[in-house]
Amino acid sequence: MTITTCSAPGKIYFFGEHAVVYGEKAIACAVDLRTRVSVQPSGGHVISSSMGTTGLDTVIHPYVTQCIREMEQYITGGVKVDITSDLAVGSGLGSSAAVTIATLHALSVQFDTGHTLDEIATIGHAIEGKVQGAASPTDTFVSTMGGMVTIPGRNKLSLPECPIVIGYTGSFSSTRELVANVRSLKEDYPVTIDPIIRTIGSLSGYGEVLIEDRDYIALGSLMNINHGLLDALGVGSLELSNLVWAARKAGAWGAKTTGAGGGGCMVAITDYPDEVADAISSTGGEAIITSPTYEGVKVE
Ligand code: MEV
Repeated sequence: MTITTCSAPGKIYFFGEHAVVYGEKAIACAVDLRTRVSVQPSGGHVISSSMGTTGLDTVIHPYVTQCIREMEQYITGGVKVDITSDLAVGSGLGSSAAVTIATLHALSVQFDTGHTLDEIATIGHAIEGKVQGAASPTDTFVSTMGGMVTIPGRNKLSLPECPIVIGYTGSFSSTRELVANVRSLKEDYPVTIDPIIRTIGSLSGYGEVLIEDRDYIALGSLMNINHGLLDALGVGSLELSNLVWAARKAGAWGAKTTGAGGGGCMVAITDYPDEVADAISSTGGEAIITSPTYEGVKVE
């Protein structure tokens, strides 16, 4: 019996999370932390991950369940899906997009559905929207194609050459809830919140040029501004800011929340990765020194 294994990367945001949900520009980059999904034909549907073993289950495995439903017409009998990941669920590193895209691609290869990568990204985005309430195409696009891109323009940028350090707070964050919180803040106080969202988009515009110029000092200072604006949108946390300030004090050019916020992860760029990682660890975070990657979803 054939088994197909695919992997897809997580991602960090240099700029633009939350604002991108309202059409503002974001810059995101795939990182070398991957989710691996193996699929094989089986009598019924079985999904196994660190969350447990279930059948189709919209609570424990909502994304994979939707992937199987989406591909149901191509699956004869059932499918067994096994998931392992470098990305903690709800860490803000695009774990849900990575599992969705790796599962869709593995099902597509295993059952020879003929889907292109563009189609996989589009179906993945629709699944995230269904599960999450609202989703930009950022996470699913970057996880499918890899590299550093602007969204919505899909402009491919050079990969940053500076070390990247991620700090994980260890606490789960619900993208669905945080996106909904920002939406209600925006509805209650549009005169205040709309300009903040537009300003975040403008940081991506400046950032795009600075990345091409390899001006990491200026890039870092704009990331610091983006962190403050995410706090203003109410998606910060004490733990995130503690890790951000620890990274800055240890010499990072810039540090900010990445992803939905509320918990999850922060990201720093620095030429002192070991010092920044030590500072994050001694402030109670889990430090991960990682690198950007051009590799999107792939068959293992
Ligand atoms: C979550 O990784 C990023 C958000 O901007 C939501 C989205 O873009 O779908 C908060």
